[in-house]
Amino acid sequence: MDFDLTEEQRLVRDTARDFAAREIAPKAAEIDKSGRWPAEIVAKMAELGFLGVAIPQENGGAGLDALTYALVMEEISAACASCGVIMSVNNSLFCDPLYKFGTAAQKAEILAPCAAGEKLGCFGLTEPMSGSDAQTMVTQAEKTSDGWVLNGAKNWITNGPHADFILVFAVTDRSGGKVRHTAFVVPKGTPGFTQAPPDHKLGIHGAHSCTVFFENCTVPDTAIVGNVGDGFKVAMATLDGGRIGIASQALGIARAALETSVRYAKERKSFGVTISNHQAIQFMLADMATELDAARLLTWRAATMKDAGTRHSMQSAEAKLYASEVATRVAHKAIQIHGGYGYSTEFPVERHYRDARITEIYEGTSEIQRIVIAASLLRA
Ligand code: CAA
Repeated sequence: MDFDLTEEQRLVRDTARDFAAREIAPKAAEIDKSGRWPAEIVAKMAELGFLGVAIPQENGGAGLDALTYALVMEEISAACASCGVIMSVNNSLFCDPLYKFGTAAQKAEILAPCAAGEKLGCFGLTEPMSGSDAQTMVTQAEKTSDGWVLNGAKNWITNGPHADFILVFAVTDRSGGKVRHTAFVVPKGTPGFTQAPPDHKLGIHGAHSCTVFFENCTVPDTAIVGNVGDGFKVAMATLDGGRIGIASQALGIARAALETSVRYAKERKSFGVTISNHQAIQFMLADMATELDAARLLTWRAATMKDAGTRHSMQSAEAKLYASEVATRVAHKAIQIHGGYGYSTEFPVERHYRDARITEIYEGTSEIQRIVIAASLLRA
């Protein structure tokens, strides 16, 4: 694995870093506090090509690679984790499967505007009674003479309240030994498809999620993404990529918490010296930096394998598992270093702590990542 970034990767990362510092970071606390959807930031991310980073230019994207996507995700998430996940869902969970499994017409009519950021996508797998055990979904699609009728509900749908399209998974066959699922792309406004108001959450307040409902929602055959019956594989392959995005989001959150802690440690005094002189603080900073670097290496390895077209289910799961748990540990230590100030909204570390926590849950909990890793080990 080559650890050197190309000139283009460095340039895009620096552009993202600069944009995030100038236009996102100053608003992050306000977005968190108000819980507003950061529409103006989403529009600017679109202008910069950040909503379709690794989608080819002929399909509306920026034509870069998965590693560059990971770099941009880290930068955006370091400034605002909500903006990071808005970007990640559109890139990894919507555009990527449309690019991999979509028809030419879906690529022209749906992928291109979404990858360009003119429209927004979301991903509907989770249901009220099936999160980790995704195959047990109850949403179903019944074949009719001229299409399919969808019925069911999906929840925790990030971008759901604002998305123009959803990639939704439904059971289409229960007749054999194995339940078969199929992926459909459904535009907002399709009769029978409705979105509930945004959920209330511990963190990532600007990244709205909601429950969506399908009530006798009729879609044509052309809404199918991939093959009929292959929906679960579409979902799993998509999450292999998505987990790189969430690992990168976790890196961004952890890095922001570490940088704030280093600054604070050099300013705050106790026992007559800045707290950076205390070995207790130094050890915490050292552990935070070491774990962050290790998490980044895992994430870049998974992204590099995705770029090489090598199966990376295990490596993405390792990256997501480790980076998300590192983000929580780093943010936890950041609060400790800040003492009482860390617990107050005066400093950003309490936001990082709240935002970090979700990275251990969505796109597969840490326990699910361990299942994916163990399954890969035992299959080999
Ligand atoms: N790529 C392609 N195919 C895959 C695959 C992959 N990575 N992983 C599994 N498959 C295939 C298998 O080969 C198998 O195929 P056959 O039926 O032909 O044998 C099929 O899929 C079923 O595989 P498993 O038997 O391994 O499936 P399982 O029921 O045991 O589940 C699981 C596996 C890993 C637990 C899976 O259910 C899972 O990942 N659960 C977590 C779901 C999740 O991550 N949800 C996140 C929702 S999205 C989100 O969070 C978005 C957001 O808000 C930001």
